[in-house]
Amino acid sequence: MTNDQLLKIAQDYGSPVYVYDAEKIAAQYKRLTNAFKGVNTLKINYAVKALSNISILKFLNTLGSGIDTVSIQEINLGLAAGFLPEQIIFTPNGVSLDEIETAAKLGVQINIDNLSILEQFGTKHPDIPVCIRINPHIMAGGNSKISVGHIDSKFGISIHQIPHLLRIIENTKMTINGIHMHTGSDILDIDVFLYASEILFETARSFKNLEFIDFGSGFKVPYKAGDIETNIEELGKKLTAKFNAFCKEYGKDLTLAFEPGKFLVSEAGSFLTQVNAVKQTTSTVFAQVDSGFNHLIRPMFYGSHHDIINISNPKGKERFYTVVGYICETDTFGNNRRINEITEGDVLCFKNAGAYCFSMASNYNSRFRPAEVLWYNGAAHLIRKRETFDDIIKNQIEVDFSNSKKEAVLSK
Ligand SMILES: Cc1ncc(COP(=O)(O)O)c(C=O)c1O
Repeated sequence: MTNDQLLKIAQDYGSPVYVYDAEKIAAQYKRLTNAFKGVNTLKINYAVKALSNISILKFLNTLGSGIDTVSIQEINLGLAAGFLPEQIIFTPNGVSLDEIETAAKLGVQINIDNLSILEQFGTKHPDIPVCIRINPHIMAGGNSKISVGHIDSKFGISIHQIPHLLRIIENTKMTINGIHMHTGSDILDIDVFLYASEILFETARSFKNLEFIDFGSGFKVPYKAGDIETNIEELGKKLTAKFNAFCKEYGKDLTLAFEPGKFLVSEAGSFLTQVNAVKQTTSTVFAQVDSGFNHLIRPMFYGSHHDIINISNPKGKERFYTVVGYICETDTFGNNRRINEITEGDVLCFKNAGAYCFSMASNYNSRFRPAEVLWYNGAAHLIRKRETFDDIIKNQIEVDFSNSKKEAVLSK
């Protein structure tokens, strides 16, 4: 999308606003499926948590994607978006057996990552095949909060617990139809995927009724010029060869599954904010925008980088700015960034704002969550209205204090 198109959206729909480019999502989807065209059956299950707007889900459905979900609400959203239960995998962590049973009743593929829950589920529902999430004990991922496949992680069933797992299967007579791993997000090196795949194949040999192997996700997308990204084409070639060789040995054409979030939607997203104030201090120049970590928390939460550009003055002289929000705690989006000269009222665009941005937004400071716009077929489509004060107040219940006496309360 061009700067002018983005500016027009900010003018038409107000600020702050999230904008998603459908063409970019489709291009990433195609890149991934092309890279793995050498496998017999490939299944892409988009990780809903990354960006869960129903129009985004519907669009991914038209591309042929399934979905990966982590809550019963995400499942219901997927069903509302038109996905069939068999296009949905449920990969929760730490949820109740009750929630898993509710999902199973809807007919979605269950993925279990806990031996205790597996035993309870298998005992009650031996006829429902389940996938198991393995923890391969690999340290992978861009930072500790998004590294989830290591030995201290709460995710997955340890590879050292396979004998226990097999005993549960034997005792309950349940069927394991898939094995899965997801070791982290922003994984820099494709060798990590290849190494982890060996562990998964080794584990898979213990299960005789597999239909699919799910390699999770964690593909690294570029955040700035010259940044490393997962070489998906090279990974496609190398993993396809390994996977096909494994299927031959296993004696069955299994489905290869992935569940990407960032890879599909991160770069498609732009977050547009307006500059409320430019504040020169003794140490820096702050550009203060009409947003904060209530709308985009990734930089404050785990130090993520979002390129920030001034789309109102793209040819202006470059100066250094620290871009901050309006929240009552420190909410620095970017420190000492070289940005084209900023004047109050200018619109700043945050790049890579498709994944884990709106979906992590909150009403902190009683602010409204922003509008979302999908750029599709050369036109802007509003896909979520900006919240209003009604959204802030609608679930709150007021207690009637009119009869309480101030003195009586204070004297207690
Ligand atoms: C189980 C699981 N699958 C897939 C994803 C998506 O990862 P990414 O956005 O890095 O593609 C996540 C992200 O946290 C996850 O926890």
